[in-house]
Parts: sequence; C-alpha cells; structure tokens
Amino acid sequence: MRFHVALATASMLVLSACTAQSTAQTASSSGTADVLAPDMATTLDVASPDGRNSFSLSDEGGQLRYTVSRNGEEIVGSSRLGLRFLGEHSLDANLKIVGESRSETDSTWEQPWGERRVVRDTHKALTVEVERIDTGRRGFIDIKMFDDGLGFRYRVPNSGDVAVIDELTEFNIGPETNSWTIPARMYNRYEYLYAEKPVGQLQLVHTPATFEKESSVHLSIHEAALVNYSAMSLEQNREGVLEADLSPRSDGVKVRLDGDILTPWRTIQISDDAAGLVNSDLILNLNEPNKLGDVSWVEPGKYAGIWWEQHIREGTWGNTPAPNRHAATTEATKAKIDFAAKYGFNGVLVEGWNTGWDGDWFNNGDVFSFTETYDDYDMPTLAQYARDKGTRLIGHHETSGNITNYENQLADALDLMESSGVRAIKTGYVADAGNIKRVDENGVAHYEYHDSQALVDHHLKVVKEAAKRQIAINAHEPVKDTGLRRTYPNWVSREGARGQEFNAWGVPPNGPDHALDLIYTRMLSGPMDYTAGAFNLRPNEMEPVGEDLLRNSPASRIEHTLAKELSLYVALYSPIQMVMDLERNYEARPDAFQFILDVPTDWEESLALDGEVGDFAVIARRDRNSEDWYLAALTDATARDVSIDLSFLGDGDYEAQIYRDGAEADYESDPYDIVIENRTVSSADKMELSLGRSGGAAIRFLKLDNE
Ligand code: NOJ
Ligand code: CA
Repeated sequence: MRFHVALATASMLVLSACTAQSTAQTASSSGTADVLAPDMATTLDVASPDGRNSFSLSDEGGQLRYTVSRNGEEIVGSSRLGLRFLGEHSLDANLKIVGESRSETDSTWEQPWGERRVVRDTHKALTVEVERIDTGRRGFIDIKMFDDGLGFRYRVPNSGDVAVIDELTEFNIGPETNSWTIPARMYNRYEYLYAEKPVGQLQLVHTPATFEKESSVHLSIHEAALVNYSAMSLEQNREGVLEADLSPRSDGVKVRLDGDILTPWRTIQISDDAAGLVNSDLILNLNEPNKLGDVSWVEPGKYAGIWWEQHIREGTWGNTPAPNRHAATTEATKAKIDFAAKYGFNGVLVEGWNTGWDGDWFNNGDVFSFTETYDDYDMPTLAQYARDKGTRLIGHHETSGNITNYENQLADALDLMESSGVRAIKTGYVADAGNIKRVDENGVAHYEYHDSQALVDHHLKVVKEAAKRQIAINAHEPVKDTGLRRTYPNWVSREGARGQEFNAWGVPPNGPDHALDLIYTRMLSGPMDYTAGAFNLRPNEMEPVGEDLLRNSPASRIEHTLAKELSLYVALYSPIQMVMDLERNYEARPDAFQFILDVPTDWEESLALDGEVGDFAVIARRDRNSEDWYLAALTDATARDVSIDLSFLGDGDYEAQIYRDGAEADYESDPYDIVIENRTVSSADKMELSLGRSGGAAIRFLKLDNE
C-alpha cells in the first residue's frame, strides 16, 4: 500500500496536493521502511526554456539524487540532496517523491540601478513534494531552470524550534574539472588570491566557485537569497564530489530556526564560455523583488576619501599624541570635499573620524563609539561644508568585529549620519574568521564566523535600519553577496575579496591575475567596492614624509599598467566607485584622469564580449543616462592582442576616446606607458588592441550627433 505512488510511471507523475496529502498519511500510518526497492523509483525531469539545460531528480533507494545535463552532456553526475536536523527525523533517507507541480515564467523587471536596467526572467519551475515513508515528514524541493543555469532550494514545513546540523547537497562535477576558488573558513575570510586547480585537489572553498569542464562548459556554483540561514561553502568529500558545508554557529549547530525551514537557492550558472557566466542574471532572478519601494534616494556615483592616506602610512586612523598624523582632521576633510566638488564626485568617505581607533584598533571592537568624534574633526561644520559644495560625507563604521557594540549604538549612529546628510555608510568587520564578537542578553560573549547565521542576520538588520533613514550600505569584511540588492536596493556594494588595499601593504600584493579572477568568480555574486584608480602604482617607493613614518614594503604595489587600472571602473561593477588615490597623483595626470571623470557607475546594459577565466576579459557597458558606451579590455601577466567587434554600438558614429597601453607598456618595466587618442568608429568596425603584460584599455564611445 505504501508504494502505490511509486508505481506510477516516472516522468508524467502528476499528483494533486490532495493526493499528496493522503499519501503522506498513508505512509506515516504504515510503519517504517528502510530502503525502497530500486524498481519503485520515481524520476522527474525539468529543462530550461531553450531545452539545453536539464535537471533530473530521483528517489531511488529512498535518497534524493539529482543530475544536470547541458546539451546532452552530463555536467553534474548523481548528487545527493537532503537536510539533517538535531534530535528529530531528518530529510535524508526513506524518502519518496509524492507530488509535483510545474509552472513557466517569461517576464521582465527593472533594477533601480545596476549592470542593466531591464532584467529578463524566463524559467521553468518544478516543485517536488517528498515524504519520509516511515514518519510522514514532508518537504519540498523547488527547482527553477533558466537558459543560464538553475537554482534549487529546500522547503520543509515545521513548527517550533529546529536545528539544522548538516546539509547533504552535493555537486558531483568530477575530479578533472578545472576550478578557480578561494579557501573557506580561513582567518582572512574572503581575502585570498584565487587558485586554479582540478576539483580533485580542492578542500574547503567559498562560493562563488568557478569551474570549467573538459568540454569547456563553464559552471559557477553559488547561492541566492541567503536570509535567516548560514552561508554554504563546498567541501570535497568523495573524489570530485563537492558537498555543501554550512558555516557553523558559535553553539556548534549550523542553523537554528523557529518554524518553517527555507534554505537559500543553491545555484549553478552554466555557460558554453567564460563570458556567458558574466552575462548571467540568475542570482538576481532568484531573489525576491524590491521590498523598499521608492529607492530613488539610493545614489550611484563616485567618491573620494580619506582612506589611501592611512593604508600607505601617510596618516593614521587614530589620534594619538605626537607625532600625530591623524588623517581625518577638519582641515584635511575640507580639502577632500573641495577635491570631490571640483570634479563632481558625490561622496567623501572619511575613516578615523570617531573615537576608538587609538592603539590596536584591530582588537578594539569594544571601545568604538559611532557618535563621538575626535576633537580635531568637526562633523556639523563638515556636513554643512559638503552640502554647500554640492557633495556629501560618506559615513564609516568600523566595528572591528564587535557586532553587539555596534548594534547597541546603531539607532543613534544612523541618526547622526542621517542628520549629517549622509546617504551611504561603509561598514567594516575587521576580525579573524570565527572571531566576530556577539554578546548575548546575559552578557556572555560568543564568537561567530563572518558568514554564519548571526552575521547574515546582523547585516540585514543594519541594511533595514539604514533604509529607514534613506542610507545605503557598503559592507567590508562582509558576508558574501547572494543578490539581496534586488530585495534591499540600498545594499549597494561590499568588499568580500582582496581589494586595492592589499596593494598598499599586502605581501604578495594582488598581482596581475587577481582582477581577471575576480571578474569570473567574486563578481558573479554582485557589486564589489574594489576601490580602483591608483595613479601612483608604486606608492611605497616614495620618500617617507617624516622620519617617524615608515613605508610599507615596496613589494606591495599595483602590478597593473595605468591603462589597466583605468579599465577596472568598467570591468569591476559597482554602483559606487572610489577614486582612491591622493589628489596630487591625479592632478599630475589630468589626461588619464579624464576617463575617471567621464565613466559612469550606473548602466543601461552590460555585455561581456570575450575572455577566459583568469586570463583576459573584454566588457562593454552602456551608460544609463546617455547613448554612450564604455569598454574595458584587460589581461593577466601575458601580453595579448584582442580584436573587438563593435556591433554592440547603436546606429551612427561614435568618437572612441581610447586610453590604451603604449608599445612599451608592461606592469614591471613601464607601467605608465599609456596612449590617449580619439578615433571615429561605428558598429560596422572592429577594433584591434594590443595589451601589455598586466595591461589593458579603457574606452569611452561618445555618441556623435551626426544623423
Ligand atoms: C578594512 C577595509 O577593507 C578598509 O577599506 C578599511 O580602510 C579598514 N578596514 C579600516 O576600517
Ligand atoms: Ca578588507
């Protein structure tokens, strides 16, 4: 009796909710069963709208297992699904598919800001109902199939508390498959250089993780809509099989929930080539629509800041007695506001404005104040000065990893920012992985991972509180991005990878490959506050400013040509882009600085045109507020020629304002060799570019009014 559903033939099994319900009751009342006979298995399939990606789910042997194919090639072999709970029946064994429902969607939606204004969501959905035949516990697997990949998630009706202790989700992609990843749960969070190696050599890695099969199909495994759960990393268990590994809570379990269990979407972006991964909107399409309503107050733009000064040791965050090099003084901030106003930047970040930085600020999380300014920083005067000049202060809240100290001050801290005209705050969580301090209502300290459920909750709390005051958030040392900017469009950017700062003091610095790795890995998750725009590529080779002032090692430097550094404004998407170098370095090169002045940060359309993971990229974007296009081409330590088909341009002529590597450009021997020239081009043209070692090109295509 308990097998009557299984006897229906697999692919067209259609059960009404009512049938499924009665099946559940039948099963639960029929006693226990260990393993179902193989011939009783049900298999359900669902394909993408274009038919090229297919997903197959089976309950053979009482386990849920899936496979994924692309163009008929099995790209994810038989992989297990399931969840284990503490002290109660899990969704892991004795499982039977008891129902399904299907739907199709073809719609578009608009981003308030983004890589493209109009996003198309075309997918086929399958929801599979499963049941434990021994206990009647039910669950659902939601699957959505897109032309650019797929997502699936677990939904388990539940009442009361439940602790998730393991997620069994596997991705069996084979030991020979090539991968680009960073390690997970290591002290520096997401701030590692990417390694390229076969899956068979991986241990525990973060997502997004990028893969290339022997057939050259490219995959990215990640997750979407990480809310009220902990982040998923990937651990190799059996050879070539990556298993979900959830970031643990400080109490040892992975996730604690009250009521229904809803996991984030587990995502696999799929493309025949590397550029296709960059063009995918899958992560955004798997997030909920905007919950904030009118967000016209979220302002894309460029910002200057008191920031690089500290990283290259010309100033300090703290305000200690002589020799005092406190960078965030009223006078220095006025000069920075003048600079921003002169060039039309809409923000000025100021780090080190508040008390708490003196001494060992890395470990000072308990003493930061988010309302008390240093004596030499006059916030009301500066807020007014910025307003008068037509720009704004950008707030900075470095927590040094003490989220309770921050949350206790959050309302007052945000109120102060709001009343100071601030529209964006950079938050910071400098602390080793597993060392974020959370103090409970009894005063007991707990130490959490940056990607644990506690931090997932914390970030969303800050984002929602900030939204009430029309303030955007740019989190550093964050939890990774999973597309929540769609739901909360004030979550404008974040770090979550090695940024420019590593070129000030990192040994080794980011090097020639890093930007090319970021484009095909980290950037697939969403905007990054990389803070591009270095014009002095060897900042630590300058004379110290005073005897007391040590430079960082000269080995820490920007291993790009100047043209490649410019290309990052187009290549590494963020709606807010820092103009990070010192004023004097820009004013020494007004010709090259012009590109930074012109480049927008909000786009109508974006197209990755060509590239290979870790090697090179060609990306074009159309300005949201004009018919102009911008293009970035950039390469790793290998010089290369690229040929660019300009058919993406609209009708008519464009003036191509080209900032490209000169003939001698080479990141080691001649990084400043740049040619700046104009050419008239149209969509019928091809453009040939020679990129030097770790070189690049940045191009503005200015629409000419000649029709
Ligand atoms: C690390 C951030 O990434 C960096 O941008 C910031 O300057 C320091 N923390 C201090 O908050
Ligand atoms: Ca950082």
